[in-house]
Amino acid sequence: MKSNSHFQGKVIWITGASSGIGEEMCYQFSKLGAQLIISARNVGKLKRVNAQLPRNPGSAKVLPLDLEKLPELPEKVQKALSYFGRVDILVNNAGIAVRDFVRNTALEIDQKLMNINYLGPITLSKLLLPQFKKQGKGQMVVISSLSGKYGVPKLAAYAAPKHALHGFYESFRSELVDSGIGITLIIPGIIQTEITAHAVLGQGENYGKVEMAFKNAYPVEKAVKKMIGAIQQGKEEFYVGGAEGFTLWLNRFSPWLLRRFIRNHPLKKIRTFKRKLGIGK
Ligand SMILES: NC(=O)c1ccc[n+]([C@@H]2O[C@H](COP(=O)([O-])OP(=O)(O)OC[C@H]3O[C@@H](n4cnc5c(N)ncnc54)[C@H](OP(=O)(O)O)[C@@H]3O)[C@@H](O)[C@H]2O)c1
Repeated sequence: MKSNSHFQGKVIWITGASSGIGEEMCYQFSKLGAQLIISARNVGKLKRVNAQLPRNPGSAKVLPLDLEKLPELPEKVQKALSYFGRVDILVNNAGIAVRDFVRNTALEIDQKLMNINYLGPITLSKLLLPQFKKQGKGQMVVISSLSGKYGVPKLAAYAAPKHALHGFYESFRSELVDSGIGITLIIPGIIQTEITAHAVLGQGENYGKVEMAFKNAYPVEKAVKKMIGAIQQGKEEFYVGGAEGFTLWLNRFSPWLLRRFIRNHPLKKIRTFKRKLGIGK
């Protein structure tokens, strides 16, 4: 990391700031002296995060928004710009997960995830672009996933928008060469948050459980510290997480082997066995 003053006074707009990775980013960016605009749907949770900022509690601008409501986003961007007259870094972090097979997933759920995890974030980026051009600089940070690189069972509706983010932002980045505007795509592995508790099933029901793998996962404080380092260095793509990161390497150098690994995953074998016994979906 370069010097600690890098984020001092910078205006950072974080979506999904009411919990998990986004919430932790608020605390760490606050310690580094950034001026924050914090967004999500749940205003009560945003206010709690604001009150808990380690430096100047209550100093963040709370800007509630629902990424699913695309027509409302232009007004939200205008509002965000009205606070400090600029945004230096947009962190497109908000997102929801799904836990269901394609055969059980309603098209409305595919659309919902596409809106929240893909169209919402790119809309914010497109709307901020003229301001970034005017400033002659700016950084767009995008929180993707291992599901943005390959697919596994029950995550199709989640993997689709995460893959789309890579296609969009890699193309976009190639248009921004020498513009002073940077794009950092972050790929978290399994990070200790309640993302699975907030996830939906195929018909829109709340999944409601924190999966074991997420309870014992890579600590969110450590993950966010590394993400901030990557943002500071202006990295184009950055993986953060535990040993599951080896799948990225496998996907690049032996996609065939990765597909075999996914097909023969122990959890899949248990599911098939339960189905044969008539006790699983
Ligand atoms: N945890 C992991 O292992 C992991 C791994 C890979 C990628 N990621 C990605 O990391 C990001 C953050 O996830 P997390 O783990 O921190 O999960 P989380 O704790 O569930 O946080 C998700 C955030 O997104 C917000 N959000 C959800 N729907 C929204 C909507 N329609 N409009 C605006 N905001 C919305 C939520 O706030 P409200 O409910 O208040 O709106 C919340 O602040 C996501 O993009 C996720 O895909 C996480």
